[in-house]
Amino acid sequence: MKVPESGMPEEAYWESLFDIPLILDRLKIDRAVEHVAELGCGYGTFTLPVARRIQGVVFTFDIEPPMIARTIARAADEGVYNVNAMLRDVLATGFGLEAGCCDAVLLFNILHFPKPEDLVHKAAEVLRPGGRVLAIHWRSDLTTPRGPPLHLRPKPSDAEQWAKAAGLRVTATMDLPPWHFGVALTR
Ligand SMILES: C[S@@+](CC[C@H](N)C(=O)[O-])C[C@H]1O[C@@H](n2cnc3c(N)ncnc32)[C@H](O)[C@@H]1O
Repeated sequence: MKVPESGMPEEAYWESLFDIPLILDRLKIDRAVEHVAELGCGYGTFTLPVARRIQGVVFTFDIEPPMIARTIARAADEGVYNVNAMLRDVLATGFGLEAGCCDAVLLFNILHFPKPEDLVHKAAEVLRPGGRVLAIHWRSDLTTPRGPPLHLRPKPSDAEQWAKAAGLRVTATMDLPPWHFGVALTR
């Protein structure tokens, strides 16, 4: 099932809405990180910058064929060879990766549907001990230029419930200006 309200505006506009280096710095995505899984590559907005920072592979998934095609094309154009982009309905079928294979799972701009803890549970299964689910989302206490309706957006405080349901613990919450918040849940 495609997450409701998860369609994308035009690429350049979407990518003007994030301070990507700040977000990746605050989430501690760096050379110490090996493999990463990502739900919803979209245009590859975060996929490629993450791949450039880490030492492993970004396994990224999207339910929309044009998003997979765009991410693969960008990775090839930019010579980023550690991206593996696959068409998959992750809500329905999970990540399809080996248990415990990833240092991090990225759930960016996606956790605005009923029972997100079920997805966080699927993400936790592919984390190694000490690995992290990293989620970002549009703040609901601000007027933002994009994002799902305010009543659908998760809040930083929801992370405790996600973590509890998935056997994780909340190890960081942060502002990601101008429009987002982030949380890290550690296995
Ligand atoms: C709002 S976009 C965010 C993309 C990217 N994470 C970012 O922040 O730039 C959400 C993406 O998730 C994809 N998506 C929605 N439901 C999905 C599902 N069930 N399985 C895989 N991808 C899904 C959409 O097609 C879309 O590309």
